[in-house]
Amino acid sequence: MAQPEALQRALASIDVSDPRLYQEDSWRPVFAKLRSEDPLHYCEVSPFGPYWSVTRYDDIFAVELDHENYSSSSELGGIQVADQRKGRELANFIRMDPPGHTAQRRTVAPIVAPSNLVNLESLIRRRTCDVLDALPRNETFDWVDRVSTELTNMMLATLFDFPWQDRQMLTWWSDVAIANVASPDAVVHSEDERFSELTRMGDYFRKLWDARADAAPTFDLISMLAHSDATRNLQAREFIGTIALLIVGGNDTTRNSMSGGLMALVENPEQFELVRGRRELIPNLVAETIRYHTPVLHMRRTARNDVELAGRSIARGDKVVMWYISGNRDEDKIERADEFVIDRAKPRQHLSFGAGIHRCVGDRLAEQQLRILWEEVLQRDLRFEITDAPRRLYSNFIRGIRSLPVRIVN
Ligand code: HEM
Repeated sequence: MAQPEALQRALASIDVSDPRLYQEDSWRPVFAKLRSEDPLHYCEVSPFGPYWSVTRYDDIFAVELDHENYSSSSELGGIQVADQRKGRELANFIRMDPPGHTAQRRTVAPIVAPSNLVNLESLIRRRTCDVLDALPRNETFDWVDRVSTELTNMMLATLFDFPWQDRQMLTWWSDVAIANVASPDAVVHSEDERFSELTRMGDYFRKLWDARADAAPTFDLISMLAHSDATRNLQAREFIGTIALLIVGGNDTTRNSMSGGLMALVENPEQFELVRGRRELIPNLVAETIRYHTPVLHMRRTARNDVELAGRSIARGDKVVMWYISGNRDEDKIERADEFVIDRAKPRQHLSFGAGIHRCVGDRLAEQQLRILWEEVLQRDLRFEITDAPRRLYSNFIRGIRSLPVRIVN
């Protein structure tokens, strides 16, 4: 049915790439409108040029599985609605298609294989206990700083076998890599500044890499990359890009799930009460937290061919943006999608980890860290109050919580 002209104009002006939607947390009605009235939405004018938005669960899934038609390649623009700056592209395997992607992904996968996760369990638990036991009582502190950042930073340092005394650099480089340079409170303010910080990161890692390449293989990410045929000869920008991918992948997303999870539990006290009484629900709580928060807002592909999707024609070269944040709230797929419900029948049915050949390689490690965190929170019967509004990240890519002031009230 033809849409009235005024409605078409109103729809055409919707630009969900605006980071304010996520900083102000005002995205829900906008995506609800798109899902019901214009599920495959074309935005002609945006700061990032024209792009398609895929907003429904099943359509996102279809794009994810069709990597022949929808490319992740850095040469075509990569995986974010914002193109990488020409000559400054940071290539890595999330920005590659097969066969290059396949070989490089295979190199790092063993670090998060089930057998290694078993080995990591007691270390993660010990650290989680230490962090929780050191928290003040009846006094406001920042959950992001004291818990989410601290735990994910230590995990990352372990995966890289990174010099412990310098490990705060990992959090800094992660923040640099995802910063929106247009935001006044960003950690870097220009692409040049970002590039030079990441070059410094590359120099630091190059020393570790060279030392490990000269030594016998060890079970850490740097040694794995340095000894694999697929990655030992990475060119400078691919080297930096690969390190940045692993830092951001393992850090930001899990960090924000820890913060988003606590917020959701405090804002939905009946769900917190439910899991207190039924600890077997903790794995469901973890999955629901990852769905409900959706730490990665979108992934972008570029059409390799002219292709049809949801009754629309996408032209070769078009940018196609999959909004996980919207697919995860699609009522046609997930009942009561806007609610935080920890005893869903299919809690792992969500898009937060993507799907297909690029599906998150670290998903089980992320879930493990979160499971242990909530197990230990419940073990101590900690009860929280949020004492001030959270500060959210100005980004259209990462759904970040920069600070979350809380108090333990028992
Ligand atoms: C809750 C936590 C996490 C979330 C929500 C998340 C989300 C994602 C998403 C959306 C993708 C892209 C999927 C796609 O394009 O289909 C991805 C890829 C990836 N993630 Fe995660 N991630 C998380 C934790 C981790 C952790 C802990 C690690 C590493 C230890 C990690 C490493 C990676 C890597 C290396 C890729 C690229 C995979 C590829 O291109 O084949 N992630 N993640």
